[in-house]
Amino acid sequence: MVRLSVNLNKVALLRNSRGNDYPNLLKVALDCERFGADGITLHPRPDERHAKFEDVELLKEHISTELNVEGYPNRRFIELIKKVKPAQCTLVPDEPGALTSDHGWDTIKNKSFLEETIIELKKSGARISLFIDPIEQFIEGAKLVGADNIEFYTGPYAKNYSLHPIHAIEKFSLCAHFASNLELGINAGHDLNLENLKYFKENIPNLIEVSIGHALITDSLYYGLENTIGMYKRCLVP
Ligand code: PXP
Repeated sequence: MVRLSVNLNKVALLRNSRGNDYPNLLKVALDCERFGADGITLHPRPDERHAKFEDVELLKEHISTELNVEGYPNRRFIELIKKVKPAQCTLVPDEPGALTSDHGWDTIKNKSFLEETIIELKKSGARISLFIDPIEQFIEGAKLVGADNIEFYTGPYAKNYSLHPIHAIEKFSLCAHFASNLELGINAGHDLNLENLKYFKENIPNLIEVSIGHALITDSLYYGLENTIGMYKRCLVP
């Protein structure tokens, strides 16, 4: 079954908006696990406006499922990964002030940077995943720089899904075959939701994990966190 990693950045944003510890991020993470999440994702950005670097350390100590830490690999982020040793680290090419991640790596232009960074990060024992658009040469580049997995940036899929699902999925399906042939693991994330998730899962061979934040936390306002996690999990059953 495809794993669901719940991205808790939106919960951290809500907490930060009042400057107190409410909602408590660790409690929400433990509840997500109790409700069936297979992992927790945090994306500490340089300005820490959502998840803070200290949140990553705290959650790693207490959760029992996999922690996936996403981010741009600047020196502070690299040191965090080496200290915390999460199960998975997903590298994204975000500018420091980016509103949200909106593109994958150019693994050709950034070849030596990624190669060196991945060698250093792998010493932590983390599985290294690269955020990638469905472009064969960048997927091939991900393999060459030493990534274990790729995470498809699914924003364009989500945008086009409502207009034309077959067109929306086409490139992703082809590139998933391509990545599997290179023995890269396949994750996916961004703008996945209750409408588009099942179709994505059904058309992507060897999908290992989806990481979902914005829509899942928004749906929880209406359905509650426990029900919502159950609804997302049901989209992922074989
Ligand atoms: N993957 C990456 C690399 C992201 O930056 C994000 C957003 O923080 C997600 C997945 C999850 O996207 P969403 O919040 O739209 O579900």
